[in-house]
This record gives sequence, C-alpha cells and structure tokens, in this order.
Amino acid sequence: MPSGPTLLPLGDGAAVAEAVAQRMLLERQWHPDRPLGLATGRTMEPVYRRFAELVAALPQGEAERLRRDWCSFNLDAYVGLAPSDPRSFAAEMEQRLVQPLGLDPRRVRLPDGLAADPAGEARRYGAAVAAAGGIGLQLLGLGLNGHVGFNEPPCPATAPCRALELSEATRHQNAAAFGGDPAAVPARAITLGMAEILAAERILLVVTGAAKAAILRSCLQEPPGPERPASWLQHHPDVTVIVDAAALGAGVN
Ligand code: GLP
Repeated sequence: MPSGPTLLPLGDGAAVAEAVAQRMLLERQWHPDRPLGLATGRTMEPVYRRFAELVAALPQGEAERLRRDWCSFNLDAYVGLAPSDPRSFAAEMEQRLVQPLGLDPRRVRLPDGLAADPAGEARRYGAAVAAAGGIGLQLLGLGLNGHVGFNEPPCPATAPCRALELSEATRHQNAAAFGGDPAAVPARAITLGMAEILAAERILLVVTGAAKAAILRSCLQEPPGPERPASWLQHHPDVTVIVDAAALGAGVN
C-alpha cells in the first residue's frame, strides 16, 4: 500500500519556490527523456522565476543540453483564447519560461485553446502525452475548490484529458487575470485528467498562502473522493506536497 503524500513544510513562498525550482532542475538532469508536467497560476510564478535564475547560472554546456532536451506538457488551457492573448496560459508560459530560458516553443506544449473541436483536441493532447511516455514529474497547484489542473469537482480518479465547463468558484478564483470580472473568464477549458496526472511517475503539489489551508487539509486528511479531486493524490505512490507555513495552517500533520 502506498504510504500517502510526503509533506515538505517550508517557511515562506520564497523557500517553496527555491525547493520546487531545484527539483525541476534535478528532474531535467536525471530524467531528460521524461516530459515535465507544468502548471500555471500565481503559485507557480515565483517558481518559474527562480528556475530561470538557476538555469542562467548553469555552465553553458549544461544549459544547452537542458534546452536541447526540453519537453513539457502543460496541464490545461482556456477554450477560446489564442496563444497571443496575454491572458492565455500559452502566453504565460511564453513569458515565464520560453523567453527567459530561450526554449524552442514547440517543446513547451499546451492544449490548443482555439481548436474548432475542443473534445477532439483534448483526445489528441492526451494521446500526445501518452506517446511521449507519460509525464515524469508533474507540478500541480491547488484550486480553492480542490481542483488540480482544471479537474473540477465532482471528478473521478479515472477522468481522462477532456474539455469541460469551469465552475463558478474557479472563474472567481481566476478573475484577476480578466480585469477582476468572473464573467470574463472563459466558460470552458481543456485539461489533462486525473488519469494522466495520476499516471505521472512523480508529483509535486505546490501550495502557498493561508487561503488554501482548509482545502489542503481536507484533500490530505479526509478520505479521497470526487468532491475534492486533489484528494485522489493520496492514492499515488510518489507525491510530495511542498507547502509554506501559511498554507499549512493549523492541524495538517
Ligand atoms: C488554476 C489552474 C491550475 C492552478 C490552480 C491554482 O485554475 N488551472 O493549474 O494550479 O488553479 O491557481 P493559483 O496558483 O493561481 O492559486
């Protein structure tokens, strides 16, 4: 039986960013053949900033190898936003990763939010992840309603990559990037499913800030179930939860 997620509590967001960025770098060095699974969102912003600094400090040959071997798949994308739209996750990756690291954008893959057939695009994207051998290290943020990627509750552990409706809670959570208006947040998204996420070899769940303390505690401590998709991570044999003091709150142990 898996022993459940390993909790790595750290003092603050900067310490969390350091630890996650170091693990990303080790992953590229130890498992260059395995795709990285990437997340977007505010939690990941300092992580990618620190990662870019670490890559910039590498000896030239190592940095070149990292660029040459790069392969990543993002978790999700909004339906209806072009990569050139600054609110798209593709634009976020371009700004936070592709440009600072000098990566070939074709190696930083995301679902195509403009695909005429989002359901077909989701099937194609899930198949592309499988064809690449599945995810090696999967980075995850945590939604306030317990989502990972855009796997909105209720969500079974077997849900595959798919197009789906976003919940009101998520459109509220992500409204800041849309002028603060939840109605301006796209209604639909394409996301890797719990199936592809749980098939990753290693998973890092990254959680910062007091607002996430209650949902994190419930996802880690209550029996897994579809109402809190992140709770399915309890079934995975290699999950590390990297958390700052604020998100740890009281009572997670
Ligand atoms: C978003 C994304 C997730 C992200 C999570 C947390 O909706 N789809 O991939 O990890 O919610 O976002 P944030 O880090 O901004 O709190």
